[in-house]
Amino acid sequence: MIEIHSHILPGIDDGAQSKDESLEMAIHAVEQGITDIIATPHHGDGTFETPPNIVRRNVEALNEWYSRHSLPIKVHAGQEIRIHADLLDEWEKQQLLTLAGSRYILIELPPSHVPSYLNDMIHELRVRGLVPVIAHPERNKEAIASPSLMSSWIEQGALCQLTSHSLTGYFGRKIQKLSLQLCKSSMIHFVSSDAHHNQQRNFALEAAFRIIERSIGKDVVGRYIEYGARLLQNEEIVIDSPGKVRRKLFW
Ligand SMILES: [Fe+2]
Repeated sequence: MIEIHSHILPGIDDGAQSKDESLEMAIHAVEQGITDIIATPHHGDGTFETPPNIVRRNVEALNEWYSRHSLPIKVHAGQEIRIHADLLDEWEKQQLLTLAGSRYILIELPPSHVPSYLNDMIHELRVRGLVPVIAHPERNKEAIASPSLMSSWIEQGALCQLTSHSLTGYFGRKIQKLSLQLCKSSMIHFVSSDAHHNQQRNFALEAAFRIIERSIGKDVVGRYIEYGARLLQNEEIVIDSPGKVRRKLFW
């Protein structure tokens, strides 16, 4: 299984704080059947800046650290990029990383609102041959209130990544119900742990997939696993049209 969103690089954002903590996280990931982890430290969120050269250097060091412990897992470079008006300039200046060098780029929205220029930004990224993956839209206040917003992003060419802990109930019952509904409505294309440490916000793909399998079906889990693998190989991902989410179901 491929994990596309994690904060496993030690000491560069609010994720793992030491090599040992990162090792513990990776051991837990291997136990769940995860073979590849894309490290996506926060970038441009007002607190953390993680330039590509620093991310690449840390990824290399972490892979060496894991092989020294004979851990069968590979870490790849990426960033979780907070959306901002200068994002395209940063891309032109090669200050941004895609996910594992693919065409897929992880974009984080502010939790409180959806920037008015988001649809234009998605379009501009697509024009540049990139596929934006919107990180955990189920935790954005405006998207929660109007899930149809997500359909417009998907129609524009973006994909959406749900956090496994939203499905397990870590963020509350409402977000859990919404998350399942989003999965049912083909609004989600990746499920990822967004792991920060080895306590509550650890790698939890196995738990999330168990919930999806029980509530929706095995084929949906298979689809998420396949899309993760396709992303890592930089292959095209052909998606179903998003359905409708009835807001009253969860409010
Ligand atoms: Fe994250």
